[in-house]
Amino acid sequence: MCFMKLVCIHGSPREEGNSSKLANHLCASIKVKGVSVKSYFLNKLKYIGCQSCMACKERTEVCVVKDDLTEILSEIKYADIIVLASPIFFGDLSAQMKGFIDRTYSYLTIDYKSRLVPGKKAVMILAQGDPDKKHFADVFPRYNEFLKWHDIKESHLIRAFYSPEMKSTPLDGAYREVEDIVGKLTR
Ligand SMILES: Cc1cc2nc3c(=O)[nH]c(=O)nc-3n(C[C@H](O)[C@H](O)[C@H](O)COP(=O)(O)O)c2cc1C
Repeated sequence: MCFMKLVCIHGSPREEGNSSKLANHLCASIKVKGVSVKSYFLNKLKYIGCQSCMACKERTEVCVVKDDLTEILSEIKYADIIVLASPIFFGDLSAQMKGFIDRTYSYLTIDYKSRLVPGKKAVMILAQGDPDKKHFADVFPRYNEFLKWHDIKESHLIRAFYSPEMKSTPLDGAYREVEDIVGKLTR
């Protein structure tokens, strides 16, 4: 039995979409191992992007914007594992996910040092329509750099691709990767 906490953030507008299916599978598999899980669907929440007001650099240690992201930003401080699940939209994360990520600016001091407790782990789950794995392979490395700013040194990637032959996105392989990663996260 382990006493870890996972916060899962869904960035797709499709609750039954591929990134959400994979994230839900991960959450269910890790829950069985005693990890507590909290999930949020960004598309259902009301929030704004970072206002670049610099209050979190000059006056406070938290984001002064109070909206539906306030709870998530606080929950992540106490989380051991963060899951970021997003579709690829025009070669990047969804706007919903990007809006959330920008607000994590409040986790950084004026010297770009992380205010988060080190040792958190992250999983990024990305679903795309393009079957070519080379396309949009840049997305995870780019955002992984920012995870490192937040002192998140262990991060994992799961990707899902559309298959023209099957006329759908086969998730079997990705489900197996999820199981493998759950093992790594809880060992
Ligand atoms: C606005 C929009 C933009 C998209 N842009 C891309 C893209 O740039 N590359 C790609 O491979 N697929 C793109 N897609 C397809 C989605 O990435 C694909 O349907 C994915 O499975 C959606 O994730 P979800 O199932 O988790 O919702 C786009 C879809 C939409 C609606």
